[in-house]
Amino acid sequence: MALPLADLYNTPDERNLLDTMKQGVIGKPLDRPEGPLKVSGTATYSAEWKRSDCAEGFLVLADIAQGTVKAIHADKVLAMPGVVAVLSDEAMIRRSTQGTAGEAPAQDVHTVDYFGQPVALVVAETFEQAREAAQALEIEYDAAAEPVPLDPQSPDAKIEEPSDSKPVKGGDLDKAMREADYAIDVEYDTPGHASAAMEPHATIAEWDGDRLTLRGSYQMLAFNVKEMADCLSISPKHVRILAPYVGGGFGSKLGITHEAVAAAIASKQLDRPVRVVMTRQQVFQTVMRRSETRQRVRLAADAAGKLVGLGHEARVSNLPDEDFAEPVTQATEFLYGGENRLLKVEVARISRMTAGSVRAPGEAVGMQVLEAAMDELAQKIGMDPIELRKRNLPVKVPVEGTPYSSRKLVEALEQGAESFGWDKCKTEPCQTRNGDWWIGMGVASAARVNVMIPAKARVTLKADGTALVETDQTDIGTGSYAILGQIAGEMLGLPMDKVDVVLGDSELPPGAGSGGSFGAISTGSAVMRACEAIRDKLAKAMGCKAEELELQDGSARHGDARQSLGELTGGKDIVEVGSIKPGKTFKDYSQASYGAFFAEVGVHAFTGEVRVRRMTGAFGFGRVLNAKTARSQCLGGMVWGIGSALTEELAFDVRDGHLVNHDLAEYHVPVHADVPALEVILLEERDAAASPLQAKGVGELGICGAAGAVANAVYNACGVRVRSFPLTLDKIIPHLPDPFASPA
Ligand code: MOS
Repeated sequence: MALPLADLYNTPDERNLLDTMKQGVIGKPLDRPEGPLKVSGTATYSAEWKRSDCAEGFLVLADIAQGTVKAIHADKVLAMPGVVAVLSDEAMIRRSTQGTAGEAPAQDVHTVDYFGQPVALVVAETFEQAREAAQALEIEYDAAAEPVPLDPQSPDAKIEEPSDSKPVKGGDLDKAMREADYAIDVEYDTPGHASAAMEPHATIAEWDGDRLTLRGSYQMLAFNVKEMADCLSISPKHVRILAPYVGGGFGSKLGITHEAVAAAIASKQLDRPVRVVMTRQQVFQTVMRRSETRQRVRLAADAAGKLVGLGHEARVSNLPDEDFAEPVTQATEFLYGGENRLLKVEVARISRMTAGSVRAPGEAVGMQVLEAAMDELAQKIGMDPIELRKRNLPVKVPVEGTPYSSRKLVEALEQGAESFGWDKCKTEPCQTRNGDWWIGMGVASAARVNVMIPAKARVTLKADGTALVETDQTDIGTGSYAILGQIAGEMLGLPMDKVDVVLGDSELPPGAGSGGSFGAISTGSAVMRACEAIRDKLAKAMGCKAEELELQDGSARHGDARQSLGELTGGKDIVEVGSIKPGKTFKDYSQASYGAFFAEVGVHAFTGEVRVRRMTGAFGFGRVLNAKTARSQCLGGMVWGIGSALTEELAFDVRDGHLVNHDLAEYHVPVHADVPALEVILLEERDAAASPLQAKGVGELGICGAAGAVANAVYNACGVRVRSFPLTLDKIIPHLPDPFASPA
């Protein structure tokens, strides 16, 4: 069979190659090769690079929401100790593109579009000097004559259709709602979120003539190089980015941010390296946010609990000229049936920092609301919520008619239920009381689209019989180093200590980058294909067909013939570049990863405090490349889900739009005490349409619906249905049942 090595992935690769290999490293829960460096503090993160003669820059943020910069009084500050420059007239310091689609918005150097937007950079010999000077810098503003609203629900907010998506319409939803045996029409709110990556944004820029090198924290290097080149009007060939270790991104490092542009401009001007590190507060104030949403969900079901109508409409927000619109209904399109449909997103144009991708854009907030509404429907019908979901899985995607590539949702619901002990769940709320705590259980489905991004990777089988994998792919804590090494090790028959992986340098072949759960399947497929090409050459040298070649522990076998890889290479390195691009399989099949969440919570009968007591997630995302890193991704997602359900919320001051909770003390991500033992079940699955690896994305799957399970458990515990996330005490207390009443 000819190797389907064309760039475009047009035909599902059914050969299932990885399962035919002999090394046995793929899928194993192997440790990350870079783990020891990270836990011992010796992995070099962006701000930690030592560069001689490096100046330090500190961003100055606008303290008005909208207006123009009238004057920047730099003189006083320039006289302060150690200060070398104040940069204020560069538009791109104010609005870097942050990974939104399309061209960077046209810049007006004088405008301020949101509170906290960077307007200047102060550079000094030390960080402390730069910070002190930045705090002393006087800036005069003119307030905007016609400011855009601060709040997406303002009657003055301009409402637009997203530039990249149209509503999905089918049948007559209004009629279906009127005639349904059971109908749910509810409105939910979700707040804005911060990515809250552990490592703050930081860049060290230096120039060598007209060539710029950035050491920093980014997710998608090939894309980031282009953005930076655009910002500076230089050739992308003159930009190199190094990001071997990234302390989390969660979307906030998909695009370049202000500190990178500011550092590059300052370094050019001063002709020396410049480092700009954002403080935690600056990261919160200027780096993109997840949009808050208001979602209306309509569910119309017949007497048997089958959906005949499904509506999901959302209002999200962004700055007036930004393209991104939180794709709230992304998974609703394919998850459940209901021929009468209306799915729609609208964008309110407001003055808050750029809205963009944060931890599963679309599904994270869309699924948690849809799954809470499904629970409301199950309650209304009096049907087990798992049964309701199982009854509503379409054979083909509604309206579009596309088949599913693979879908382990039923298995996830059933195996998760079994392991969690769902049979002990009481259908009616307020049935279980443990001391001062109401106890309840909730379930929700998980779904997240599978995405492939064009990717390349270079693999070298060296004359000494070891292998080297090289791509600009980043590892943002996800396990890229581990899984890319495992793919090469499996394909070339090498134990892990014979495979080196070098990542995070934009001069290496461009991988997919890290984002949208696409890194592993995209760049992993490129690595696999490079290895296939190497196997072809080895087979030729061995005098056999590639599929007859057995590679294991550094030796090649065909029948009785046996040679070491070192001998087979004939003393020469074999170098191949593998490449993949999404093709027809992405049009022919609806591709998504699926799963199910089960949560048990306690709700305090007097205070309304919610504690998650235990949680189970069961997930099917095609082949598991590394059972440890994949499980960690799922765990992380479930932790985000707990945060989204109970604590996370960006709070903006209604008077001037400033972000009130701009640090980790006030913006509450779940901490250890908030997270109980989490159980993760990885389901066996292969999906040839999704990638030659037969794997789908897993990075963000663990959040997509998780908060819904928690909210449903809260209802099951105490009978309080909160339609505004997060479920804080103040929203629960007024509706709690009499705390002295005994369980019904
Ligand atoms: Mo992701 S939010 O696309 O990094």
